[in-house]
Amino acid sequence: MERLFRPESVAVIGASTDPGKIGHRVVANIVSGGYGGRVYPINPKGGEILGHTMYPSVEAVDGPIDVALVSIPAAGVLPVVEACGRKGVGHLIVLTSGFSEVGEIEAEREIVRAAKEAGVRILGPNVFGIYSAASSLDATFGPGGIVPGRVAIITQSGALGIAMIGKTASESLGLSALVSVGNKSDVDESDVLEYLIDDEQTSVVLLYIEGVKGGERLVRMLSRVTQRKPVVVIKSGRSKRGAMAAASHTGSLAGADAVFDDLMRQCGVLRAVSVQEAFDWVRYLASAPQPADGDAVIVTNGGGIGVLATDACEEYGVRLYDDQGILAEAFEDVMPAFGSSKNPVDLTGQATADDYAKALDAVLEEDRMHAAIALYCETATADAERFETLVRDVYARYRESKPIVFSLFGGESIAQVIRTLRGEGVPVFGDVYEAVSPLGALYRARRSTRRRAKIEGRSEEPEVDVESIRGILDEAGSQDRGFLLAHEAAQVAEILGLSMPASRVARSLDDAVEAAGQIGYPVVMKVVSKDVVHKSDAGGVALDLDNEEEVVDAYQAILRRVRAHKPDAVIEGVEVAEMIRSGVETIVGARRDPAFGPVMMFGLGGIYVEVMKDVAFRAAPIGSETAKELVASIRSYPLLLGVRGESRKDTDAVAHALVRLSQLISRCPRISDIEINPLVVYDQGEGVRAVDVRILFDPQRG
Ligand code: ACO
Repeated sequence: MERLFRPESVAVIGASTDPGKIGHRVVANIVSGGYGGRVYPINPKGGEILGHTMYPSVEAVDGPIDVALVSIPAAGVLPVVEACGRKGVGHLIVLTSGFSEVGEIEAEREIVRAAKEAGVRILGPNVFGIYSAASSLDATFGPGGIVPGRVAIITQSGALGIAMIGKTASESLGLSALVSVGNKSDVDESDVLEYLIDDEQTSVVLLYIEGVKGGERLVRMLSRVTQRKPVVVIKSGRSKRGAMAAASHTGSLAGADAVFDDLMRQCGVLRAVSVQEAFDWVRYLASAPQPADGDAVIVTNGGGIGVLATDACEEYGVRLYDDQGILAEAFEDVMPAFGSSKNPVDLTGQATADDYAKALDAVLEEDRMHAAIALYCETATADAERFETLVRDVYARYRESKPIVFSLFGGESIAQVIRTLRGEGVPVFGDVYEAVSPLGALYRARRSTRRRAKIEGRSEEPEVDVESIRGILDEAGSQDRGFLLAHEAAQVAEILGLSMPASRVARSLDDAVEAAGQIGYPVVMKVVSKDVVHKSDAGGVALDLDNEEEVVDAYQAILRRVRAHKPDAVIEGVEVAEMIRSGVETIVGARRDPAFGPVMMFGLGGIYVEVMKDVAFRAAPIGSETAKELVASIRSYPLLLGVRGESRKDTDAVAHALVRLSQLISRCPRISDIEINPLVVYDQGEGVRAVDVRILFDPQRG
């Protein structure tokens, strides 16, 4: 990757003297961008372009070529890749469209194969190129004028990426790198992220993703990058296809976007909704100092916007400083009699620019206050020009020591002040929510880094005996089944350390009565049939059976109902099981996600699972701290903490189950779905019980 971002020589295959062609634009950008290495335009016609001699082919170039851009039609790309292989080119950037994105999958595979054989890496095809501030290299066919800086952008969308070039230039957002990954036939986001971890020029990464390929590696890489620098992601294409294809609750609840969202949070990645929000965040994250642990103070000359900013702080996770005594003392000298030193600190509309400056100084000089949100409403008495100077001056003095954001609200003169100051890189916004949002991103990034550093230091659970579970799967697979029967699933649960209700499969009515007597009343009964997936829907379940008579009735009713529901179902028997006492019903699942590989799920379970959809996800494997965090992340978590005098539930036991399940799905690739629903959670210290365990697997895989 070093060779891609810091090449000593760049060739452009398909360089053209026709200014309307992409092959011309790329050469023009390389030249005008100030690239200091050797430039080799390649065109069989020869001649000259922008002061550089054209070479008829890569082989005709004397020295080595680190990077070659390809800008010729798709049909000619393969021979060019082969020629580059012979030449020993390091990286190919294939701008050409017309490959897998339009269904030409084989053509794309061929060029990747040829490149791999020759040891050449491919970026693309279907990309707009690369910008690297480290080499002043603008090898894109964008509008040019990229401002060097500290933000790296990786984008899957070409059109949006090119538009970002113009947008970053007009917003004076400095870039350290810009990479278009296009079809990701070889080099993908993870490769670029790996390079950016140690790239000193990059302090923030912005990632635009449409679809995830190689999600397991992406998660690992993002987790590593965010330990060193913040990552902001924008993701479009919220597809539900993967979820629809899945067979279990875990699958259908795992809307592709919900999984993406939770996994990004797990990696400490900040997800922005819009490009503008992402730009505001990365610009701020690249320039603001790390906040100390604490809290922000709002200084305003208007009560209304002060309250709005308070709301925004709650929404974006910015805590407000609250010590009334210290606040009163800090603002004693600047506060008019009718003002308020409570946070938000309201200087009122009478405040002069000097009062305002003094109040901000008071916040920024006070060690116990850690960030300032400065709000200003245009008034008849204060003058915008004076305010512009004040903001510039305050920002210049404190920008290195404390995070500050400004929001100015008013007419044309204020709009002009905002434009001027933003152009200078001052974090000034027209709206209080826009101002608080990047500050919130800064705090969230910091909190997440700290939290994960804590998690990583913790010890993990003992290993699950996966070998024995493989044996159970082998046995079921030999009968050509892709799922485990109840008693097999119960054996797996036992190996996982989960206590399941005592049970027995009865093959006859007498057998069922005897089993119930042995297990002890009350019991439940469930049909056992590989043809019945949803047992309740088929009338195949009877609960709370207190005596022999009820067992007899239930046995007959189950057989009758299931036969009516699915006449061709082969019924192996009826399972008689201990009826377990009630607790909080949760769902614990693990599945192989099409994009991210093994993913864990936890949520409120039982019959409400489909309605509430209160579930959360994490990439597996997980340790006990991540498992606890997963449990705590659902909306219904207070139910587990105990509401209205109830005692706290055994969340440690839930976390324990999650960790062990995550080990199983991670180490047993043929399992596609495991679901425990419900996992009944009892009071602290009393553990959990798995009532129903379903396991789906691929019998063809060993
Ligand atoms: N070696 C060197 N030069 C060659 C070769 C070769 N093997 N074959 C052709 N050339 C020359 C051509 O003679 C031509 O030069 P000329 O102008 O002197 O005649 C030049 O290379 C370009 O070839 P053209 O046939 O004119 O191709 P054109 O420039 O029209 O199109 C392109 C090539 C741009 C790669 C096109 O096929 C394409 O894929 N366009 C889409 C690009 C794109 O959008 N990529 C995704 C970016 S992201 C986004 O969505 C914006």
